[in-house]
Amino acid sequence: MNHTTSIPGSYHLSTDQQYAAYVNPQWVRLLSALGLNKVFNRSFGAELFADNGDVYLDFLSGYGVYNVGHHHPFVTQELIAELQSQRPSMLQSHVPTLAAQLAEKLCQLAGGKMEKVYFGSSGSEGVEAAIKFSRAFTKRDWILYAEGGFHGLTCGALSLMSNLWWREGFGPMLRETQAVPFGDVKALRQALQTEKYAAYLVEPIQGENGVKVPTREYLHEAQRLCEKHGTLLVIDEVQTGIHRTGPFIASHYFGISPDMVILAKALSGGQVPVGALLMRSDVCRSVYSSIDKACVHASTFSENALAMRAGLATLQIAEKEKLGERSTNLGNFLRSELMNRLSRFEMIKEIRGVGLFNAIEFQAPRSIGLKLLYAGFTKAHPGLFGQMIVKTLFEEEKILSQMAGNNFMAIKSLPPLVITEEQIVRYVSAWEHVCELASRTSFWMQGLRIAAKALAPDRACPNAVPKAGAEVLQERALAEV
Ligand SMILES: Cc1ncc(COP(=O)(O)O)c(C=O)c1O
Repeated sequence: MNHTTSIPGSYHLSTDQQYAAYVNPQWVRLLSALGLNKVFNRSFGAELFADNGDVYLDFLSGYGVYNVGHHHPFVTQELIAELQSQRPSMLQSHVPTLAAQLAEKLCQLAGGKMEKVYFGSSGSEGVEAAIKFSRAFTKRDWILYAEGGFHGLTCGALSLMSNLWWREGFGPMLRETQAVPFGDVKALRQALQTEKYAAYLVEPIQGENGVKVPTREYLHEAQRLCEKHGTLLVIDEVQTGIHRTGPFIASHYFGISPDMVILAKALSGGQVPVGALLMRSDVCRSVYSSIDKACVHASTFSENALAMRAGLATLQIAEKEKLGERSTNLGNFLRSELMNRLSRFEMIKEIRGVGLFNAIEFQAPRSIGLKLLYAGFTKAHPGLFGQMIVKTLFEEEKILSQMAGNNFMAIKSLPPLVITEEQIVRYVSAWEHVCELASRTSFWMQGLRIAAKALAPDRACPNAVPKAGAEVLQERALAEV
């Protein structure tokens, strides 16, 4: 996009040029190739306002940070008040009032065994902390995790992710980690029987794997087996927390009682990064075991007043506006509307989720015409089909969405929890129209042209087109159809 910047010294560059020059040129290329590079002047609630007056619906929620909506006035008011108070925020030599308040509130809301909180500034930091705390408590080194999960891109978190694409080229990760298939009780039992694992770290619903929902029995059995074999059950609620699935955490939905819970994303109120690792008192004590160890695990920005105030404001809004109930009710409405309107399309495989944490998964077409076109797409790039759906939703229907990072055939559906029924109706109609478009040859031809044009020398991100010459790619793909 060619908007100019007022930053001194770079007035001659558009934002795209400046970002490409100084941050990440591949990101600019990718967004441009997909037609997603749009300037928005304002965002509020579930809506994004473009400079040309178009209004988009946000069904991505910034990877899940906007549960209370964009620019919730109470979050804004609380942050302004905090700044105007001129209270010290990061003295690193005081007992922070707001951190104490937020920690108490989080433990009350999570309930169960949650009695202590470690604050960080992201989900990955929570995962890193969980690895350290569980090792300290159990005196074991190994961490078990579920295949297909997503836990963040720091080295510890990456060590708990089976999709090697995220790890390639970054050297050795933690060696003492092991994956088990998600939902497979037998494999979990076999692994935990070894009694070498400090923790089983798992999402209650695998978001980036396409919102994969396990059975209640699986998670209950996981808890029982962990208790039996002295392994801590660490539930990564970075995406599912703060009422995304209805209850405060998805662990409540499944009725499990973890030893640790990781929160981040939406706790920020969509404004100030904050993460929290909730845990049992005895686990916490194993790290902060003496006065000498009072700050053995810490981070400069954790517990800063703005982050804590954003967290407290978020929890107040969630309670006052009954976001949990909204999420449950609107989620049921969304899924039933989507099923009514989309089930007739041959490529729709499943519409699934809990609360407002949902995904629409596609499958390869059966009809001969589409089968050939689909084969051409898959040859060009496994993510091309999903990306074309996202692009068409965006360009034709003004809906912002995203495919799942570890499952290219699933498009995630994560609106702010303040979304209205009318907005959901608009979204469902948009989907119906896009599915109709995807049944036409023009949709597929456009996809092949885009794939060819993208000519990515590197895979800039999971959604990028692999290394290939434009002509070669176009010829190869067109030859397939
Ligand atoms: C389930 C889950 N855990 C951890 C993370 C990492 O969080 P962050 O990006 O804040 O480090 C993510 C990010 O998407 C996530 O979805």
